[in-house]
Amino acid sequence: MGKISSSELPIGIFDSGLGGLTVVKEIINLLPNEDIIYLGDTARVPYGNKSKDIIIKYSIQNTKFLLKHNIKLLVVACNTSSSYAVLKLKKIFKELPIVEVVTPGAKTALKTTKNYKIGVIGTKATIRSRSYEKIIKKFCKKAKVYMQATPLFVPLIEEGWVDEVYKNKNYTQQQRINHKNIIKQLAIEYLKPLKNQNIDVLVLGCTHYPAIKMILKDIVANKVEIVDSAIETAKEVKEMLVKNNLLSNKKTAKIKFYVTDDPHNFKIIGSMLLNKKIRNIRKIEVSMLET
Ligand code: DGL
Repeated sequence: MGKISSSELPIGIFDSGLGGLTVVKEIINLLPNEDIIYLGDTARVPYGNKSKDIIIKYSIQNTKFLLKHNIKLLVVACNTSSSYAVLKLKKIFKELPIVEVVTPGAKTALKTTKNYKIGVIGTKATIRSRSYEKIIKKFCKKAKVYMQATPLFVPLIEEGWVDEVYKNKNYTQQQRINHKNIIKQLAIEYLKPLKNQNIDVLVLGCTHYPAIKMILKDIVANKVEIVDSAIETAKEVKEMLVKNNLLSNKKTAKIKFYVTDDPHNFKIIGSMLLNKKIRNIRKIEVSMLET
């Protein structure tokens, strides 16, 4: 067997759980010939209420795990890790091309806004880091950024309370209504201060949130454009691969999933989010990341 060329190696992607799949979906759309290795650190989700040091530690461990699978490029498909750990990752893993999710979302927000009043929702850690504000302000001084932490969304989404449920016949009518109402109430409360500021763009600053985009859209109505970074991130991945001469020519691509806790939930909800059946999934022990 001949030597595998670098361009045929997989792209490595990690998130604390299911959220990064919203990015995976767009990467598959744009780059269907790429192999992907995905790590969902489901035993330690959520990252969003952890301290900076822990978030950096987990992000380094996840990267080391993916590097053992010989990845050619890393996508940090987690805003929380992108906000705190990317500089460190770039410093430690100098040779590895790395794409994060905050910059693409911030740039899209600026392209979209007309009144320069931008709302950002994210995990507590992402909001605390002010990562979006810093990037948006760097590109445009006059922009105003209004931020709101929305920490209860991630556990609900990990539990499977996602838009797809409302279209899924396996759920009873009552279950569908309950899911929708609870997320809706929460979203109304969370978004009130941002709506009061008259924002015209809402950035989903957490890769989990596109999973409930339909409900969020309902609440902000037509006056506010919703931005999620998944599509822009996929474009950035493509650019980075082209720049490094790493685009794959494979005819068929494989996706492998690793999770650090029971794969059952991830498989069911992940398949809904990806709109594609998740088959190739393995559970690994967290201790494997710690070595
Ligand atoms: N999906 C991640 C993010 O974009 C992490 C959410 C969490 O683990 O709290 O921030």
